This record gives sequence, C-alpha cells and structure tokens, in this order.
Amino acid sequence: MAILKIARMGHPVLSQVAERVDDPTDSEIHRLIADMIETMRDAPGIGLAAPQVHVPLRIVVFYVPGERSAEDEAEDVTLTALINPEIIPVGEDMNEAAEGCLSLPQLAGRVRRFSHIHYSGLAPDGSIIEREATGFHARVVQHECDHLDGILYPMRMDDLTSFGYAEELVKAPSTDTWDDEGENEKSEDD
Ligand code: NI
Repeated sequence: MAILKIARMGHPVLSQVAERVDDPTDSEIHRLIADMIETMRDAPGIGLAAPQVHVPLRIVVFYVPGERSAEDEAEDVTLTALINPEIIPVGEDMNEAAEGCLSLPQLAGRVRRFSHIHYSGLAPDGSIIEREATGFHARVVQHECDHLDGILYPMRMDDLTSFGYAEELVKAPSTDTWDDEGENEKSEDD
C-alpha cells in the first residue's frame, strides 16, 4: 500500500466527471482502494474520492464514526468502498452544516445537503451495496459522490460568508450556530 498525493482545489482532475469502473474486482482497482484508504487514514479524513488522488474513476471510500451516525441507525457504518455509486434523495428535506475537504486544506464552509438519501453501488467483490442514510452519514456520501462529478463543496454553498479558514470561523461571532450539530471538527475533513 502507499500514501498517495492529494489533489487540491484548482487541479483539473477535481473538476472533471469521473468514469465508471468496468470491473470492480480488478486487482488494480483493489490496489487503488487500499491506497485510498491508507491515504484517507493518514490525512486524516473520513472520506476520499478517487479523483482526489488524481484517478478519474467513480470510486469513493468513507467511514462514519459511530458517534456521528444518526441515532436511528441501527449500527455503525464501517469502512466502506463504493464503486459507481448512485444517490437518490428520500424526500426533499435538507439541512445545513459545516464541511471540510482534504482538497481544500484548513478551510470549511456550511453546505446544504439532503437529510435522507438512498444510495447504492458496487463493493470491491462485485456485490451490490444498498443503504439508506441520514444525518452525517448522508452528508459524507453526498460530499464524496459530488467529487465524482467534479463538484467541490464551495460550489454547493448558498452563502460564501461562512466559507473560510476553519480556525478563524470557530472564533467568529457570526457563526454562533457553527457547531450546533457537532459537525465542525476540523480534523475530520472529508
Ligand atoms: Ni472532499
């Protein structure tokens, strides 16, 4: 395994639409996924998309720590590698919370996301993954899958006044609702 270099905002690989993976069981794909997981853990982050390591393929990896899973989720979301993912919103409800991204180091901003989604894709063994997600879990999946379509979170922001350096934003009185959902830890960039 290897720790890969992470592309930062401005690199063209982050703004292109990634290609579907033909064979999830290919050994090259498995090696890439292993490297992505190692890179995500080293960063540290809780999610990473293949374009962030300069590979324009539709692959994401993520981990939702147990305490950040929604209360109504029966079990922790363990480390997941998802290939060719698809997201369908469940209902129209959205919520806003702070996000970071390993491709925008030290920065953060508040982003609206669907509160409840259904997502599917392939696992590295070729089996089908189908899940429903709410809260932080749903947010992470939406953020990571956006990377596959060349979308970075600032492009989703309604109000750029909440976009800035995470260390400064936590000090700013105008962001007094910053951590209302406990989602602002800057070390957990995704
Ligand atoms: Ni990101």
